[in-house]
Amino acid sequence: MLGGALHSKTQIENMHWAHLLVFSFLLMLLTPSLCQDHATTAVYIVTLKQAPASHHQDELTRVVNNLRHGAPGRRITRLHKPRHQNVTKIGRGQGSYFARVHDSLLKKVFKGEKYLKLYSYHYLINGFAVLVTPQQAETLSRRREVSNVALDFSVRTATTHTPQFLGLPQGAWLQAGGFESAGEGVTIGFIDTGIDPTHPSFSDDKSEHQFPVPAHFSGVCEVTRDFPSGSCNRKLVGARHFAASAITRGIFNSSEDYASPFDGDGHGTHTASVAAGNHGIPVVVAGHNFGNASGMAPHSHISIYKALYKRFGGFAADVVAAIDQAAQDGVDIICLSITPNRRPSGIATFFNPIDMALLSAVKAGIFVVQAAGNTGPSPMSMSSFSPWIFTIGATSHDRVYSNSLFLGNNVTIPGAGLAPGTDENKMYKLIHARHALNNNTTVSDDMYVGECQDASKFNQDYVQGKLLICSYSVRYVIGLSTIKQALETAVNLSAAGVVFSIDPSVNGFQLNPVPMKMPGIIIPSAKDSKILLQYYNSSLEIDGDSNKIVKFGAVASIGGGLQANYSNAAPKVMYYSARGPDPEDSLPHEADILKPNLVAPGNFIWAAWSSSATDSDEFLGENFAMMSGTSMAAPHVAGLAALIKQKFPNFSPAAIGSALSTTASLYDSNARPIMAQRSFPSVDLNLSPATPFDMGSGFVNATAALNPGLLFDSSYDDYMSFLCGINGSNPTVLNYTGQNCLSYNSTVDGPDLNLPSITIARLNQSRVVQRTIQNIAGNETYNVGWSSPYGASMQVSPSHFFLAKGERLVLSVILNATSNSSVASFGRIGLFGNQGHVINIPVSVIAKVS
Ligand SMILES: *[C@@H]1O[C@H](CO)[C@@H](O)[C@H](O)[C@H]1NC(C)=O
Ligand SMILES: *[C@@H]1O[C@H](CO)[C@@H](O)[C@H](O)[C@H]1NC(C)=O
Ligand SMILES: *[C@@H]1O[C@H](CO)[C@@H](O)[C@H](O)[C@H]1NC(C)=O
Ligand SMILES: *[C@@H]1O[C@H](CO)[C@@H](O)[C@H](O)[C@H]1NC(C)=O
Ligand SMILES: *[C@@H]1O[C@H](CO)[C@@H](O)[C@H](O)[C@H]1NC(C)=O
Ligand SMILES: *[C@@H]1O[C@H](CO)[C@@H](O)[C@H](O)[C@H]1NC(C)=O
Ligand SMILES: *[C@@H]1O[C@H](CO)[C@@H](O)[C@H](O)[C@H]1NC(C)=O
Ligand SMILES: *[C@@H]1O[C@H](CO)[C@@H](O)[C@H](O)[C@H]1NC(C)=O
Ligand SMILES: *[C@@H]1O[C@H](CO)[C@@H](O)[C@H](O)[C@H]1NC(C)=O
Ligand SMILES: *[C@@H]1O[C@H](CO)[C@@H](O)[C@H](O)[C@H]1NC(C)=O
Ligand SMILES: *[C@@H]1O[C@H](CO)[C@@H](O)[C@H](O)[C@H]1NC(C)=O
Ligand SMILES: *[C@@H]1O[C@H](CO)[C@@H](O)[C@H](O)[C@H]1NC(C)=O
Repeated sequence: MLGGALHSKTQIENMHWAHLLVFSFLLMLLTPSLCQDHATTAVYIVTLKQAPASHHQDELTRVVNNLRHGAPGRRITRLHKPRHQNVTKIGRGQGSYFARVHDSLLKKVFKGEKYLKLYSYHYLINGFAVLVTPQQAETLSRRREVSNVALDFSVRTATTHTPQFLGLPQGAWLQAGGFESAGEGVTIGFIDTGIDPTHPSFSDDKSEHQFPVPAHFSGVCEVTRDFPSGSCNRKLVGARHFAASAITRGIFNSSEDYASPFDGDGHGTHTASVAAGNHGIPVVVAGHNFGNASGMAPHSHISIYKALYKRFGGFAADVVAAIDQAAQDGVDIICLSITPNRRPSGIATFFNPIDMALLSAVKAGIFVVQAAGNTGPSPMSMSSFSPWIFTIGATSHDRVYSNSLFLGNNVTIPGAGLAPGTDENKMYKLIHARHALNNNTTVSDDMYVGECQDASKFNQDYVQGKLLICSYSVRYVIGLSTIKQALETAVNLSAAGVVFSIDPSVNGFQLNPVPMKMPGIIIPSAKDSKILLQYYNSSLEIDGDSNKIVKFGAVASIGGGLQANYSNAAPKVMYYSARGPDPEDSLPHEADILKPNLVAPGNFIWAAWSSSATDSDEFLGENFAMMSGTSMAAPHVAGLAALIKQKFPNFSPAAIGSALSTTASLYDSNARPIMAQRSFPSVDLNLSPATPFDMGSGFVNATAALNPGLLFDSSYDDYMSFLCGINGSNPTVLNYTGQNCLSYNSTVDGPDLNLPSITIARLNQSRVVQRTIQNIAGNETYNVGWSSPYGASMQVSPSHFFLAKGERLVLSVILNATSNSSVASFGRIGLFGNQGHVINIPVSVIAKVS
């Protein structure tokens, strides 16, 4: 059913480190803005049959053979990180040869057509990454030179502050009795890459408080050499790993992948600490203190079900085993920062082993949170489908780390970089890496020497005490060059600091604020980089006879970027956050379920990191890392769900989802509608107000979610009726659930589900939908307001009602099509209680008059 391999969000990133996959980063970044014609172009990684660089012929041939024989989902993942290879040795002189071969192939195949080659890959495999349409990719795959064409996608990623941003200390935590007890009695199960049990975020040194393991939890902890006895405690209450499928496929390496719950990646440690890490853990990275971290529900328990691995992701069979175990153990919430790496095929997206296993988990009363996927911003890019799963997209939050470069001509250039500044009141000479080469290196020998990856290419006498300017090219974006290496070069040469000037090809990319031990800055704008280089060049003194530089006249100082400020207009839906509508399924069930359900902070999130994590070069060996992705957004909501579960132990999974949804916020910190990024690069040039397909019900409001007033509930039987309503689903339902559709009302369809949203993919003339609400607060009188979607008229009745505590009421919503439309339009229903409860119900329709 499912395509086989699964990846966690940063797992994808991680594999991209492992290779080409980083190109897919470029995919997201480049796709929308480069294609004015809206053709759905994507980055494809094309491998050619011809062996790569002769220098490593044997080894490389072996790799290519492995690739050919590998299963499609994992062919790239065996390869090692480029930096483990001797890049300069293989690359020198041959890169341009391969690039020419690739260029001429592309030119020949796509005479006059548009395409964008992003990178020629030449030292591990012979191939390239190219932005093309599926038709073009198909054309490529038929060429006899080509061995493989693979679609890939990823986001190059990157919490100390999100509890404050979400208002937890004064709001939700206060209601839970303070952070000391927030989330108490609730266990969150993580299906992820494992955990580093030695991290202080997971210690249970709670001398002042009793912290019993919930009685309904019965999980156990594996004990292995990597995960010795004593790794678990009252905080980390369960830990196992699932790898049978991976082992069967012969790709599991028990030492690299750790045949234990230990996290060799970093992702699982990060997500667990976002949801339930201890409160008040200092975040010290690259020797700098970035404040204290806390999970959303710092007093919840954590149970780990490792089913994803740093090198190859994971497989449905292992994930289902993990879900199954979590349910057996009695977790209250399951958090999946993972999605299938392609849309399940078959009668409907819902019928895949993972979603079906999660349906059973929901039946058992477990609230399931899943990341939407990092495959945005195009419509229908959603990777989490089912109505019983709570799907989370990612937003920015208000914290920004800014940095500045002060030039000697009094120009100040803004930049990024979690770095200290240079000494105050002191200016330093600037020297470009290309002007600091030693006698036996030239730029023509090593075209990438300006990226500062190898100190032995430079003359220390030139660089010492100066600010070294290094070129930040696409090679940095895809991991072939690293900031870490450039900083090491600068240290080896005794530079006073490093300035990364961006290559025009990287302009507009969102650069993560990389931690740096020494003074440094990244200039993310090509325009500003040009201003810097113009000033630098105009200050050089060149000897007319020898044409040699005799004086470096430019000076500058670096302001430093360790201080955060909290001025960002936030939240904003991030470009990478996957978008609705839900993929179409067999008629008449097209996209009738609102996805995502909600958005939460996912960008630049500080959280715990595994000491042995290899996912990110920048955070290697660090205790904390700043990561981005819907992977980081999902555990925020898992943690908040724990607070709801603590306050309302009898809430069904649907009721928890309802509380989170109906209370979501539609406005940002400037009280303006939440905006959505819709392109990459230049993410902020193309902002427009977020629709329900960008943000679901809106941005999570923890305080309000703990006091929702009204609930929209659904049960397992409702979901079964919905599944049985899908044409021809009976045998599939029977196969998955062992239950016959005859016992369900199979006239129920998506809009009939009692969700706190209304999504009608085809409004044929007219439709009435009903919603049953229950008042869980005190007696309250509500007024109903609504705005109709374009192309339809809408009416809600009753429009005014009194509901006593505990009482239920059926709301009828009549939608009449008034004009034809081909795209979805959006409306909203608001229920305004006289005791202050506000319930927000997003509506989307595509109207058809006839
Ligand atoms: C990389 O190549 C250089 C120059 O040939 C050599 O000195 C060095 O040992 C090589 N490093 C590795 C890791 O192979
Ligand atoms: C497993 O990983 C270890 C450590 O990286 C390595 O030495 C070993 O060769 C790998 N084994 C296989 C079968 O790939
Ligand atoms: C951070 O936590 C430490 C204890 O772990 C505490 O001493 C310190 O005051 C906290 N700092 C802030 C800013 O809360
Ligand atoms: C920069 O500003 C300072 C103080 O305003 C001034 O003294 C100096 O001449 C200016 N330098 C240049 C190059 O404009
Ligand atoms: C580089 O060459 C110049 C001129 O040929 C010479 O003066 C200088 O000493 C050389 N530097 C090194 C480090 O060899
Ligand atoms: C290049 O020159 C440096 C000193 O300028 C020297 O240390 C190094 O060994 C030389 N490398 C080669 C390959 O000749
Ligand atoms: C810096 O110097 C160390 C020690 O000589 C060396 O191992 C390392 O490769 C150098 N780093 C770079 C980036 O050149
Ligand atoms: C969140 O909900 C609380 C309580 O209803 C409200 O006071 C606050 O304004 C809301 N925050 C946002 C950002 O909407
Ligand atoms: C149901 O299961 C049977 C036996 O495993 C299989 O042959 C059949 O194809 C399945 N049907 C569907 C619709 O999945
Ligand atoms: C089945 O569901 C539909 C749609 O919700 C509803 O109108 C109908 O009354 C239900 N039938 C039964 C027998 O429950
Ligand atoms: C929808 O159409 C029906 C039948 O024509 C009509 O009775 C009803 O008033 C209409 N409702 C709205 C909201 O337009
Ligand atoms: C709530 O409403 C019910 C039914 O109208 C009434 O019996 C009850 O007294 C009310 N409770 C309060 C606290 O007003």
